[in-house]
Amino acid sequence: MYAGHELFIVGANGQLGTALRQQYPGARFADVGELDITNVTSVAAYDWSSIKVILNAAAYTNVDGAETPEGRIAAWKVNAEAVANLARTATALDLLLVHISSDYVFDGSQDSHAEYEPFSPLSVYGASKAAGDIAMSLVPRQYLIRTSWVIGDGKNFVRTMLDLGKRDINPTVVADQVGRLTFVSELVRAIDHLLATEAAYGVYNVSNSGVSASWADITRAIYATAGLPNTVTNTSTADYYAGKSGIAPRPLRSTLDLTKLQASGFASRDWNEDLTDYLQKEQTV
Ligand SMILES: NC(=O)c1ccc[n+]([C@@H]2O[C@H](COP(=O)([O-])OP(=O)(O)OC[C@H]3O[C@@H](n4cnc5c(N)ncnc54)[C@H](OP(=O)(O)O)[C@@H]3O)[C@@H](O)[C@H]2O)c1
Repeated sequence: MYAGHELFIVGANGQLGTALRQQYPGARFADVGELDITNVTSVAAYDWSSIKVILNAAAYTNVDGAETPEGRIAAWKVNAEAVANLARTATALDLLLVHISSDYVFDGSQDSHAEYEPFSPLSVYGASKAAGDIAMSLVPRQYLIRTSWVIGDGKNFVRTMLDLGKRDINPTVVADQVGRLTFVSELVRAIDHLLATEAAYGVYNVSNSGVSASWADITRAIYATAGLPNTVTNTSTADYYAGKSGIAPRPLRSTLDLTKLQASGFASRDWNEDLTDYLQKEQTV
């Protein structure tokens, strides 16, 4: 296993970056203020001595924002060009590069997505992430982790729905997008597992396990676990976004096939189990 000071966390203030810093308190880390990974000169000039592993948690994650003219440029810079910058450095210095991708590189036409499914992104965000995956494929020592529906310390779906429920606002929630949540605790556990076991390099799907569910059903699970009444009304993606412009198309089926990760010796936790733990922590803070 690598020592903490040999790890370098990029995008350290995001949901995943924050969780990685908690897992590896001895790690070096930077967010955009310290190192802008879109800047090829800054990346090349950075002091990489003593670093053995780059954990890239940086991304442009505003899926609808990426459909705007400015957002399209930002998404391609952070999700594609910056990954190429890190890939170049990792390859030149023989570092291990860990990078995170998304179910949005697929169109959601399959019930479950295996690692080898061909790219079929629907949105600018999805296309920019797919470009990052292609840059990653050129790195000799790499873990490319595809994940979905990430819940951590930040603005996220669970917090939004919990807030509505507590304020007695009855939400209308999309019931035809189906997938599984990924708590950042599960992402961090999987990253740590791959590093600690020196798993074969390559692409790994990581999400919580359990029954795939729609956003509406997940909201019901949030309310049931938090002791709030079930006030959720189902809607379709088409109806939810009707009349709104600038909305990115979303895959309807986001479930990631976890066979490869589990075959590497990792026991995935059910999303309902992690939801219970997450809500308990939310209620006590
Ligand atoms: N959230 C999801 O549901 C989801 C689903 C599937 C996959 N993923 C992937 O999972 C990974 C982690 O997502 P997350 O939810 O933790 O994202 P996040 O909370 O949005 O964090 C991304 C971080 O990257 C930073 N960043 C942006 N541009 C940068 C730059 N040029 N240089 C350095 N840092 C920069 C951001 O800083 P600022 O805030 O200052 O911009 C932010 O701290 C990403 O690769 C994402 O694509 C996420």
